[in-house]
Amino acid sequence: MPIIAGNWKMHHDHLTAIQVVQKLGFRLEDSDYDRTEVVVCPAFTALRTVQTLIDSDKLRIELGAQNCHWEPQGAYTGEVSAPMLAKLNVDYVIVGHSERRQLFGETDETVNRKVKAVLGNGMTPIVCVGETLEEREAGETDDKVRGQTAAAFAGVKAEQVAACVIAYEPIWAIGTGRNATPEDADATIGTIRATVRERFDAPTADALRIQYGGSVKPGNIGELMAMPEIDGALVGGASLDPDDFARIVRFWE
Ligand code: 13P
Repeated sequence: MPIIAGNWKMHHDHLTAIQVVQKLGFRLEDSDYDRTEVVVCPAFTALRTVQTLIDSDKLRIELGAQNCHWEPQGAYTGEVSAPMLAKLNVDYVIVGHSERRQLFGETDETVNRKVKAVLGNGMTPIVCVGETLEEREAGETDDKVRGQTAAAFAGVKAEQVAACVIAYEPIWAIGTGRNATPEDADATIGTIRATVRERFDAPTADALRIQYGGSVKPGNIGELMAMPEIDGALVGGASLDPDDFARIVRFWE
């Protein structure tokens, strides 16, 4: 099943979050959820509100968080742990988004620890990988995503990896309106899948879902989802508006 996730980043307080999720709930039909998984990833302050709304309105939208710490608790001022998220019925946690790697010093090692914490608490990580423009122009895209993928899942069991989600997000395509061509995105996602096949096995690589992210819009989702390796999308800006996001969810239209 494809998976379309909205990463709201640092947008929408808990009040506007209610409006967005209610509208999204109105726009989407049961048959849409039968064709794709739909995930919203609000800021921490809106998680509880959105969770309550999903429960009370029996929405089939799944809840995601944008980050977590790898320790279950402790003296880590300002951090939120995986068990805290699991208690809120969070299903997915974005791990290692390029903004966290670039702006907040996350490394392959901390990404790996977070992946293990998320899995250990019964949730699914959406692990982000992707190259900078410089790396792309230097022909280093494959090496970069191979290294990030191998590091993220080091020491994780194959059956757990099979249930994970990877988001391939070329950094130069995030929030720039400049998306990778479907063919380029498909090729790099193929490389990521090959890395999982080599490190684990073919069934794991086939089962794991890999999304594309970076300037996904209602107008380009169709051609991206038509590619054989692309199993979904991680959507930033266009997920903030429920009309646009619903159109992206219905990528087949
Ligand atoms: P945009 O869709 O705004 O380019 O953001 C992509 C992204 O970073 C999703 O995680």
